[in-house]
Amino acid sequence: MESHKKLLLANKAWVQDKLSIHPDYFARMEKTQTPEYLWIGCSDSRVPAEEVTGREPGELFVHRNIANLIIHTDFNMLSVLQYAVEVLKVKHIIICGHYGCGGIKNALSHKHLGLINKWLRHIKDIYRFHRRELDAIANEDAKWRRLVELNVMEQVTNLAETSIVQQVWTRGGVLTVHGWVYDLHTGLLHELALMNAESALDPIFKFDFES
Ligand code: CO
Repeated sequence: MESHKKLLLANKAWVQDKLSIHPDYFARMEKTQTPEYLWIGCSDSRVPAEEVTGREPGELFVHRNIANLIIHTDFNMLSVLQYAVEVLKVKHIIICGHYGCGGIKNALSHKHLGLINKWLRHIKDIYRFHRRELDAIANEDAKWRRLVELNVMEQVTNLAETSIVQQVWTRGGVLTVHGWVYDLHTGLLHELALMNAESALDPIFKFDFES
């Protein structure tokens, strides 16, 4: 069997499975979505958002890109963020990195990989900000793991610096930004950072919405 046919066959089995438990499963799903969480993760095939968090369709609004980056000129990510926060009114944004991330590893190297170099350049900047700490780590795997963590924490701050998130906080809305890391070796998620309306932001990134 051609490999893509397996997917279509598995889809039919999945539909039967859902209908056997809830005959109105798709009728209910079709009506609306009210996810409580926005998940921003890596495109890596080993970190499926719903599966590792035990969520069903309809529970997570998902955006994934290589190395889970928040780039302030990325209109794809910004559109997802704005829609999730302002229209769906999610209460939690989870930015999830993972140990063993190829994007982070390549950013630590000097490999020329084509267009992707431009995306990974943002990770090199994080390396530059934390060079002293990272260069003090002799073990290459440990350095890689630490940059995975620093990248997640940096992206949490990047999210907090968007006007989209700041506007919710200014209006007294409830929105928490979580930074997590997934361990491919154990399957476990670990909390690294958290920001909410009370968190301190570097003043230069604060917007004055009144003026
Ligand atoms: Co990755």
